[in-house]
Amino acid sequence: MQSQPLRVLHVTPECAPWVKTGGLGDVSAALPAALRSLGVDVRVLLPAYRPVLAAIKAHRLAARFPADANFPAAELVAAKLPSGVPAWLLDCPALYDREGGPYQDASGADWTDNALRFGLLSRVAASFASRTGRAWRPQLIHCNDWQSGLVPGYLHFAGGQRPATLQCVHNLAFQGLFSEPTLETLGLPASSFTADGLEFFGRVSFLKAGLQYADAIVTVSPRYAIEIQSEPLGFGFQGLLAKRAAELHGIVNGIDDTVWDPARDAFIARRYDASSLDAKLENKLALQARMGLQRDPETMLLGLVARLTEQKGADLVAQLAPRIAASGLQVAVLGTGERSFERALREAAQAAPASVATVIGFDETLAHLVMAGADAFLMPSRFEPCGLNQMYGQRYGTPPIARATGGLCDTITDSSPAAIADGSATGFLFGEPTAEAFWGAVERARATWHDAPAWRALQHAGMAKDFGWSASASKYARLYDRLVAPVTPSS
Ligand code: ADP
Ligand code: GLC
Repeated sequence: MQSQPLRVLHVTPECAPWVKTGGLGDVSAALPAALRSLGVDVRVLLPAYRPVLAAIKAHRLAARFPADANFPAAELVAAKLPSGVPAWLLDCPALYDREGGPYQDASGADWTDNALRFGLLSRVAASFASRTGRAWRPQLIHCNDWQSGLVPGYLHFAGGQRPATLQCVHNLAFQGLFSEPTLETLGLPASSFTADGLEFFGRVSFLKAGLQYADAIVTVSPRYAIEIQSEPLGFGFQGLLAKRAAELHGIVNGIDDTVWDPARDAFIARRYDASSLDAKLENKLALQARMGLQRDPETMLLGLVARLTEQKGADLVAQLAPRIAASGLQVAVLGTGERSFERALREAAQAAPASVATVIGFDETLAHLVMAGADAFLMPSRFEPCGLNQMYGQRYGTPPIARATGGLCDTITDSSPAAIADGSATGFLFGEPTAEAFWGAVERARATWHDAPAWRALQHAGMAKDFGWSASASKYARLYDRLVAPVTPSS
């Protein structure tokens, strides 16, 4: 164990509650907080998008970066996350102060200057390595997804002493791809455009820089760490990942069990715990009312909260919606994503308004009510690096019906006869990513739901599981210690 706390910088494009488009936002808030309680001196660096600056109460100027080559001038602003973890916000109005999301404009198109936006984030993170004097200097930089993948790249090409680096892969499908001239724009050597460098099928990949040059690669579940070493889930990186298998780890995400706790949740109609599950019904009635569904305690209600994409199997839910309605079930959908899926799910709701409800939007409050009010939660993902909602569902006594892939396999125990018999079952897994296989799992769930004691056992088993961060944060802390040992400067 180190005598001084280990100094670790987390670099991330999103962090709840300030900015969140998915699970990465949750993880970037909860993991640093868990590491801090283990004694790690962890700080978070993220862009000062407009809503982030609007959300923070107090901040002070910590550093200035003059305009350099193609990068506009920027400042580093120090603030604190609600957990108390120190955060640095990279304030560069030309790149981050605008209406729209962190990666896309309001119409859903990627910002055309994303290379510069996340190139700057990575460059500033890498510059922390050469801070001098009393300035805080990280011993390890923990990079998240492609948006900070260039950090190990910049450090590699700069040469000299550097902190240890870890590239965390939350989703290999997002690779940060740009044209070759981007290298020059970002001040990276043209010679890095090779298969052993940053070139990926004729383009530059930010993520590849992280996969290539980080001291370790971590992905967010053990199963996904195996899946990405071959096709199809390697998405073209399988060769590189298999080559680096010795440095590739799978550490399952946890959940923030203070935010996602049915006994303390301020967003739901009635709080409950494992000993008061009857009170969950009030949430169901509130959800049915809120979504315009027929209010009926006797109708099994399925919930879905997701990015409406092919990854999440949004099309499978749209395909099944008429069958769900015809079979006397209900489904409540909350999500945003691809326009075609949004339209299909809206149309399904118009066709059967008493049974199918669709809310298009990002609504944290409603997400909690869906979790508490639904009887079962749908996650028919084609692939799922980890997934958080299935863990929220189990904690809320809302068993998941999910595809057997990635983190869903690692965190859900299927209701096989053996698992039901020994009381370990917590949900329903299906194999093929087809509407038929999905429907089979829905049918199994429905049969169990009608068997009240069996359903209760399933709920209790899920609610008793420990999905908190402490075990996984300890694994990260041990890995950090191992990585830092050989590269820590002696002073
Ligand atoms: P991913 O990061 O791939 O989107 P996860 O399951 O890891 O999937 O995390 C998704 C997170 O985003 C969860 O906290 C979920 O509740 C939240 N979320 C997704 N879509 C919405 C939405 N439309 N409204 C509110 N929360 C959402
Ligand atoms: C990604 C993945 C999801 C994971 C999340 C947080 O968005 O799609 O499975 O839970 O990151 O790691």
